[in-house]
Amino acid sequence: MSENELLKPDAIESDDDDTVCLGESFFIDNNYELATFTFGSHVLHLLCLQSASTDFDLTGQLVWPGARLLNQYISNNVELLQGSSALELGSGVGVTGILCSRFCHKVVLTDHNDEVLKILNKNIELHKSSEDSNSCAALSAEKLEWGNSDQLDHILQKHPEGFDLILGADICFQQNSVPPLFDTVKQLLCLQGKERCRFILAYVSRSKMMDVMVTKEAIVHGLQINEVEGSRSVISNLEGVIYEITL
Ligand SMILES: C[S@@+](CC[C@H](N)C(=O)[O-])C[C@H]1O[C@@H](n2cnc3c(N)ncnc32)[C@H](O)[C@@H]1O
Repeated sequence: MSENELLKPDAIESDDDDTVCLGESFFIDNNYELATFTFGSHVLHLLCLQSASTDFDLTGQLVWPGARLLNQYISNNVELLQGSSALELGSGVGVTGILCSRFCHKVVLTDHNDEVLKILNKNIELHKSSEDSNSCAALSAEKLEWGNSDQLDHILQKHPEGFDLILGADICFQQNSVPPLFDTVKQLLCLQGKERCRFILAYVSRSKMMDVMVTKEAIVHGLQINEVEGSRSVISNLEGVIYEITL
């Protein structure tokens, strides 16, 4: 086998010629479809999938129930965002951050997955060029893996004034990523001059263990976690709730 064949990303044959290892791109479904989402009087058109692979954490290729919950909450409470700056964690295709751009003056959408960042950037461009964008915000995407201080510092160098709001929809689903998620949240909430910064988390319950872990990690990180009154609801047959997390 030539060197070029060895470097083929989708099918790599091992030395003994028996095993064929499949590269990550073999599993990637890029057949995005344009979908319409309505939240109150706000309509968004975004590219997304209807199902996703969890093998390489491509969960961000579609819109999750937590995003529907958070976007409904946002569309009913736009005064919370008006004129503020927001950073979203685990943005996926961007349905929450893009909705926020209708009310905020700046929104930075983030994700750790390069494939997800590609579709996120496409959706941002699509939104900017659409007739119904109505956007007043500067909208951008950045790579951010929770707990990665270098990546966060890079974002903060570009936005030294920090953010008024941190947002997260359906981002607590893997136990090992919850502590680094709260490390990043704490770092953002502690930024100088942003005493009133809040983390608004749309949490969808899929296991009792995760329910306990989210509250525990907030407390371990010295944060206050409060359920937003009236936000507990059933979404896609699961129980969801909005938490407001502060220093
Ligand atoms: C379940 S999806 C939710 C996507 C979107 N917020 C929604 O509700 O539709 C979780 C998102 O978090 C991202 N994510 C998972 N683990 C992460 C990590 N350790 N650091 C940064 N992003 C992560 C995934 O790439 C994905 O986009």
